[in-house]
Amino acid sequence: MPDVLKLVSMVGGKSADDGAATTYRSTDPSHLAETVAEVRLAPADTFLTACKVAAAAQAAWAEVPAPVRGRAIAAAGRLVETNKQALARLVTREVGKPYAESLGEVQEIVDTCDFFLGEGRRLYGQTVPSEMPDKSLFTFRNPVGVAAIITAGNFPVAVPAWYLVPALLCGNAVVWKPAEYAAASAQALYELFAHAGLPDGVLNLVFADGEATYRGLELALEARVCHKVGFTGSTAVGARIGELCGRHLQSPCLELGGKNPMVIMPDADLDLAAEGALFSGFGTAGQRCTSLGTAIVHQSVHAGFLDRLGGALGAAAIGDPMREVLYGPMLDEKFATRFEGCLDWIGSGQRVLGSAGVGRVSAANPRPGFVGDPEAGLFYHPTVVDGVAPGDRLFQEETFGPIVGVATFSHLSEAIELANAPGYGLSSSIYTRDPKAALTFRRGIGAGMVSVNNSTSGAEAHLPFGGNGKSGNGSRLSGMWVLDQFTRWQAMNWDYSGRLQKAQMDVAEIEPDLSFRLADS
Ligand code: UN1
Repeated sequence: MPDVLKLVSMVGGKSADDGAATTYRSTDPSHLAETVAEVRLAPADTFLTACKVAAAAQAAWAEVPAPVRGRAIAAAGRLVETNKQALARLVTREVGKPYAESLGEVQEIVDTCDFFLGEGRRLYGQTVPSEMPDKSLFTFRNPVGVAAIITAGNFPVAVPAWYLVPALLCGNAVVWKPAEYAAASAQALYELFAHAGLPDGVLNLVFADGEATYRGLELALEARVCHKVGFTGSTAVGARIGELCGRHLQSPCLELGGKNPMVIMPDADLDLAAEGALFSGFGTAGQRCTSLGTAIVHQSVHAGFLDRLGGALGAAAIGDPMREVLYGPMLDEKFATRFEGCLDWIGSGQRVLGSAGVGRVSAANPRPGFVGDPEAGLFYHPTVVDGVAPGDRLFQEETFGPIVGVATFSHLSEAIELANAPGYGLSSSIYTRDPKAALTFRRGIGAGMVSVNNSTSGAEAHLPFGGNGKSGNGSRLSGMWVLDQFTRWQAMNWDYSGRLQKAQMDVAEIEPDLSFRLADS
């Protein structure tokens, strides 16, 4: 058994254990008896101190030419790639994600670094024509300052990298507060980035619980040492952070929950649709913000789709995430408890399929073919609930676990209405061979992301990622779009005419003859 890691916050390149901390145990959700790390959770003051240290380091980091900052990102990407297996194993051990998915997650960091190392040589501003002679207009992207990044543990390294990489590349300093149940993965990513040559204080890692983080954020905003907040997590916490930031006239980057719909049209390739539903509903045990919430299936293919999905789920391997499984355990006890609450939402009139039982897999509630020892960890049966409808909690609310609802429709307009009804707007999908249906769905769906003949999860790392409604405030991560989160546009005008030329007033006029008309022929 590997040693238990002892983790403390890292501020200014040094351990920051101030004695006031409490200790949290991050366990292996496949083997709850095993502790992965003992984590010292810091009080709010440590968060504030980290923001002050970051603020002190930021100006010098912003002075480093962007292409040189890009070299640090290149080095981070190389270090992550070289340590890919070790990092993926740690992710699987700490949050129970199947190893193949963990390798994909680590690859997503490498891809993000690959994209942004080149951005160091772009980070373009513009030259803009002036309305007056001998005057030039320009735009520049300036770093925001200190970015406080608060992340969930379902993607304990890739999603943080979506924030850290562009924030650092753009010349910001970062204070990162990861999920405590994914602290060891966070510490490993921090170490890899620190070894990429970042100056001390430019990247800081604070382990803290939710309330200390909120208070620390409040103090840092009041002290004006935090200039941007990035948050990935629940809609409820996102709303609190949004309110707090709003009081300080800041707009945070919020990536929140989802109730992601998949519409299955009468002409859909049903095998493909069932495969997509299997992956997006049950991959990562349904604990992605992009996980499938409700399959909205045309009445004519309802039976065929359910047969296929039910059959695939019955045959799926579930269990030990280091083996070849569809999914492993829940991320942590907190998520297992919350998911059990969602199972209570299943109505008596609804048909349940997918496994031999519902709820936690155990000797008394077995899953045939389970891989490993179910009682050692937080393993749950896959569940499909047919007959969900608006008004049901199962239809309306995010479940964050291995459960998928099924609703039925007869016209596309009805499917779109059902897909939008829960009020989230992160990801969505439609299976059809009809371009008109695909484009009508695209226009009608409120989601930030739309898949055609593909699952709701598994976004590529260089398209804008983010949601609307209860899924976020319209901010977008990834690709060139995230630059607007971590830079502010500065407009410069430079008048070299030697005169005061007043905009709108001292502008040369052209004299058209607007009374001119073509002769009728
Ligand atoms: C998340 O669950 O917070 O699109 C992010 C996907 C992944 C990212 C999910 N690339 O499913």
